[in-house]
Amino acid sequence: MARIALATTAALIDVDVDDAALLAALPEAELAAWETPTDWAAYDLVVLRSTWNYIDRLDEFLGWAESVAAVTRLVNPVPVIRWNTDKRYLAQLEAAGVPVVPSLFVAPGEQPPDDALAGRIVVKPAVGNGSNGAALLDGDPTAAAAHVAMLHAAGRTALIQPYLEQVDTLGEKALVHLGGSFSHAATKGAILSKEMSFSTGVYADEEISPATASDAEIAVARAVLDATAVLLPDAADLAYARVDLLPTDDGPVLLELELTEPSLFLTQADGAADRAAAAIRDLLR
Ligand SMILES: Nc1ncnc2c1ncn2[C@@H]1O[C@H](COP(=O)(O)OP(=O)(O)O)[C@@H](O)[C@H]1O
Ligand SMILES: [Mg+2]
Repeated sequence: MARIALATTAALIDVDVDDAALLAALPEAELAAWETPTDWAAYDLVVLRSTWNYIDRLDEFLGWAESVAAVTRLVNPVPVIRWNTDKRYLAQLEAAGVPVVPSLFVAPGEQPPDDALAGRIVVKPAVGNGSNGAALLDGDPTAAAAHVAMLHAAGRTALIQPYLEQVDTLGEKALVHLGGSFSHAATKGAILSKEMSFSTGVYADEEISPATASDAEIAVARAVLDATAVLLPDAADLAYARVDLLPTDDGPVLLELELTEPSLFLTQADGAADRAAAAIRDLLR
């Protein structure tokens, strides 16, 4: 039987809920921490899963991914994760005609225009996950500029977006795709307008619930994935992909495309863990 590693991090105290569900559906898989010395070549396939502590060590993480891909198969493929770990991909997808949250990127050494800091906005790192480093600023350009400066001091590019208010009532919709096809959806409650807690130390606590996706949401997610596959040939029919959408008066817009190590909310929909296991097994055919 093929040997499969689900890449996680030693920083997690408990086994991630998705990883537990996937291990039950895919008994030939086992967990392996990315930052622990491991004989990766002994696996037929390494699947990136809960490696969430890499954000402050991105170069090390990408180097590790390259080294694994050199000795066995890694999914999603390295060119895809290299592209996907920097939210500047949002600008490329917007240029490709996909509806995207209006996004302004400000690199260290650059100054945002004053009007970009007014109003109710989100300032977050272009490279980030688990809401780390994200802040909601409400009509406070001084605090917004300070948050940009804080990210710049850490060598990070800042991403400035309008705060899309409907997240407070409708939440964010995550559309999980497995083996290239839509599988299921989940709703994530608003995070930045709530008191945030990082009790696990790795990511913000999130309120997740099962959801159905509308035809409009499914269509936008499809357009996002199709546009991505045009930009990156390696991104066609990915084993896993999550498209995170925010609601607006003009329909759903892309907040984030998660192709690296997304939670797949496998316990939120019947059969999801089995579909994930099948998508992974298909890679070994
Ligand atoms: N423009 C925005 N409008 C409303 N909420 C936002 C916006 N940007 C981020 N958020 C909130 O912050 C959370 C984290 O932002 P996100 O862009 O998903 O980054 P990541 O998940 O990579 O840290 C989202 O789940 C959402 O609740
Ligand atoms: Mg997110």
